Amino acid sequence: MGVWRKRESTAEDLNLLPRFTRAGMVEVPRHRLPDHEMLPQTAYQIVLDEVMLDGNARFNLATFVTTWMDEEADRLYAATFDKNMIDKDEYPQTAEIESRCVRMLADLWHAPKASESVGTSTTGSSEGCMLAGLALKRRWQQARREAGKPTDRPNIVMGANVQVVWEKFANYWEVEPRYVPLEGNVFHLTADRLLDHVDENTIGVVAVLGSTMDGSYEPVQEICAALDEFETTSGISVPVHVDAASGGFVAPFVQPDLVWDFRLPRVVSIQASGHKFGLVYPGVGWVLWRDTVHLPEDLVFHVNYLGGDMPTFALNFSRPGAQVVLQYFQFLRLGREGFRLVQQTCQDVAVHVAQDLEAMPEFDVVSDGRELPVVTFSVSDAVTKFDVYDVSRKLRERGWLVPAYTMPPKRDDLAVLRVVVRNGFSHDMAELFLRDLHEAVDWLDNLAGPMPREEQPSSFHH
Ligand SMILES: Cc1ncc(COP(=O)(O)O)c(C=O)c1O
Repeated sequence: MGVWRKRESTAEDLNLLPRFTRAGMVEVPRHRLPDHEMLPQTAYQIVLDEVMLDGNARFNLATFVTTWMDEEADRLYAATFDKNMIDKDEYPQTAEIESRCVRMLADLWHAPKASESVGTSTTGSSEGCMLAGLALKRRWQQARREAGKPTDRPNIVMGANVQVVWEKFANYWEVEPRYVPLEGNVFHLTADRLLDHVDENTIGVVAVLGSTMDGSYEPVQEICAALDEFETTSGISVPVHVDAASGGFVAPFVQPDLVWDFRLPRVVSIQASGHKFGLVYPGVGWVLWRDTVHLPEDLVFHVNYLGGDMPTFALNFSRPGAQVVLQYFQFLRLGREGFRLVQQTCQDVAVHVAQDLEAMPEFDVVSDGRELPVVTFSVSDAVTKFDVYDVSRKLRERGWLVPAYTMPPKRDDLAVLRVVVRNGFSHDMAELFLRDLHEAVDWLDNLAGPMPREEQPSSFHH
């Protein structure tokens, strides 16, 4: 029997044992609490070794979420990971930093009075969408009640390309989701097909700045103009929420002339993911309302803050404060010019990747990174030996994680691959990726016959 099985060993003896000969290493309990303690180093090694089986985050071209920050941010993270965002009284400076970030974003997104802006950090865009959707629903209910009209059939209108969070919102808060189907080669909501779906029960329209499917921007200004026209003819005013999960941190720097934000009076709220192009590690998002009028007071709860009153609107109670601190770090570290440089570089890399793909007869480029730095491409009709799923699997052999999925209903005949270019996917890495992609395609092209077919996943929610 190995020496590690002696329970009478002291912690000191265990410390002497070579790491991979210790008890915990032999039988790792996976589905129940172990009977005994183990040294922290042993537990650390076991868990670290197991998560090594995950994909390498830097090769993850599927995610929109930040995988690289400056070393100083890593240190700041380690220094602040014990802060609870809800403890405003105990951590007043973190609360102050959150308010500063809200004001900075209000200014960036042209809120009419940035200094009086209302907004909050969230765990990510999903919580921001839930809160913004709830505010839309509550305002619609209040207006209907005041007018003596029924409130039992609210609906929300959006393109079929919306991220799964909006399906969740509609399901959890009992709002009828009205998806405007895709048509032709435009893979998002457009103004001309919107009004058929809008009526007096519409709590709002969601316009997406940076579709998850292909990185394209929905024409927020045109959508608002169509709703202006609708109001003129029907007397019904339908507000717009902009889901700027990714675009909220890209458009202000790379497409500053694009009008999509609070400059449009019909835009009542905007949410974005701090952890996507806000350049912070996972766990932070932001939601802002154009003014207090659009955030119904009865949704706001009050917590004690320095003996005073701090309004909060959130689904969670406790959540990490460190990511909010990191967001502030990025705002100070980069400033407008730094953000512009980072996002412009991502776009340059994306456009370069798209151009390389355009030159390959095997692929058709669907989006070329000129809106969000996202490239989507399909396998050309002429290719018979392989499909997008084969390419995705082949790239995995080299560690690259590139998702393959079909477009939403009405265009689910089209299957694509998607590359999200984020800070850290440098020109040099892009060259390595393209080299591997060319090799993967050569290998597939040279097969004696087509790849064997198996059933493919029908959709992908990222
Ligand atoms: C357009 C859009 N909205 C919402 C979300 C959900 O964001 P989060 O992951 O920050 O909750 C995503 C995520 O990819 C997205 O792309």
